[in-house]
Amino acid sequence: MKHDIAQLGAKVLRQTANVVADIGSIDARQLIEDMLSTLASTQGVGLAAPQIGVSKQVIVVASRPTSRYPKAPFMEPTIMINPLFVNSSDAQEKGWEGCLSIPGIRALVPRYKYISVQYANEQGFHVELELNGFIARVFQHEYDHLIGKVFLDRVESNLDVFSEVEYLKLTEVAF
Ligand code: NI
Repeated sequence: MKHDIAQLGAKVLRQTANVVADIGSIDARQLIEDMLSTLASTQGVGLAAPQIGVSKQVIVVASRPTSRYPKAPFMEPTIMINPLFVNSSDAQEKGWEGCLSIPGIRALVPRYKYISVQYANEQGFHVELELNGFIARVFQHEYDHLIGKVFLDRVESNLDVFSEVEYLKLTEVAF
């Protein structure tokens, strides 16, 4: 079932999400289904459970070209439960981000370019992946939602914050 997206200011976006202990349970399956259908109804490329009001450590990474991110690479919607990551290098790069919980705003956000992630998939199997570039960015953005942070908290300067109207005027969008 499609849910409303929690908007900035909602407490659930500022809480540390709980570990999912019951992967495969009816509740966990329902949560995943709700996240996938909610994300599919948007132009977003990722979603975290707190954004539909559930303070649990589940994210979906679903990079795809959309009107919000026309140059995004394609990745099948991937459910990541209890995700963790380490940066594989200290190099960060700034790229544009937005958030379904913060409509109308875009900002340049520094993120690690290369990361190693691990998580449990919806069957409960342990998965390890190396991510880079835009998909690594989406992961780090969604992971932040699980620790009560939003992309604006990572911005280096207020000058890197744009209205979406101005962002869309930029001809070359650098992810
Ligand atoms: Ni977000």
